Amino acid sequence: MRKFAKSFATVAAISALALTSCGREDPGTGTEGGGEAAAGFEEGAAIGVALPQKTSENWVLAEKLFNEGLTEAGYEPSVQFANGGVSEQQNQISSMITNGVEVLVVGAIDGAQLGTQLQQAADAGITVIAYDRLLTNTENVEYYVAYDNFQVGELQGQALLDGMAERGEGPYNIELFAGSPDDANAQVFFDGAMSILQPKIDDGTLNVVSGQTEFNQAVTQGWEAGNAQTRMDTLLTGNYTSEELDGVLSPNDTLARAILTSVKASGKELPVVTGQDSEIESVKSIMADEQYSTINKDTRNLVAQAITMVEGLASGEEPEINDTESYDNGVKVVPAYLLEPQIVTKENAADAYADDPTLSELTK
Ligand code: GAL
Repeated sequence: MRKFAKSFATVAAISALALTSCGREDPGTGTEGGGEAAAGFEEGAAIGVALPQKTSENWVLAEKLFNEGLTEAGYEPSVQFANGGVSEQQNQISSMITNGVEVLVVGAIDGAQLGTQLQQAADAGITVIAYDRLLTNTENVEYYVAYDNFQVGELQGQALLDGMAERGEGPYNIELFAGSPDDANAQVFFDGAMSILQPKIDDGTLNVVSGQTEFNQAVTQGWEAGNAQTRMDTLLTGNYTSEELDGVLSPNDTLARAILTSVKASGKELPVVTGQDSEIESVKSIMADEQYSTINKDTRNLVAQAITMVEGLASGEEPEINDTESYDNGVKVVPAYLLEPQIVTKENAADAYADDPTLSELTK
């Protein structure tokens, strides 16, 4: 079975959780998972939330929503970013375990480097939920809650093709960017996009002029905008003195804006550039016909779903999951609750952000 192969189990009953802090209904649907019920725990229980680094707005918002939502639900949240890197996150998780959290929600910087800490959690009887980014090479993760990030990649790949087709016939010159190699999502986004783009490269519709078509050639360490801008500068000077650039696959909005900055500085026409995260500056860019697309993966829904899982565990039930086959972490397929990502272009932005007080203003 392909790792991160995309498929959905049939979904059953609808469960909704309104987050008063933002009045957003959770559209979640799910089936009861298998396995025995977890032992419940009391209101007021400590819940650990280990977040990575503030590489994009969605992570900053997640911190606020976890603190508000867990407090609202009657728990004691301990929400921490590890801006100092992996070793800081390892120490933070160990401290959360020592401090007696009942559940550990982990947004990993590097999901492959927490094995020791996750074993500590298992030994302490703590349930671990991987948030947004899969925890890999370990059996000590019970659930995964995320937008279907393979589907994010598929949507990005298709948007690149659609955006270029709107401008004219192929073949098209493109370049490929991926996220940080330590983020398990980066490979997932890239694989999803290449499932759409590779057949078009093979049949000659797409031409990656630099020849850099492998994930490890396209990665952007740390999701750093500066790294993407420098690479785009190099690609332009090395390959596009006489060639036009029609499109760039960008895995998220911060990198998309860096890529656009580089192309603007070169004086060339702006290519179709994809993105992800519906960041404010990128929604403005899309409305100004610069960036072509982003992905709406509303953090309010993702955090709400993670808290729903915590509440399920608190009541001693098996949390709702809706996927039992897609996300193989190298040791096991992790039962998941996957939310549906949405492609956003200028055309559907007003609809997509209708209930987002900040973003809807930008689409008027
Ligand atoms: C990913 C996340 C994306 C993007 C990226 C950069 O793991 O799924 O939405 O924000 O991190 O921080």
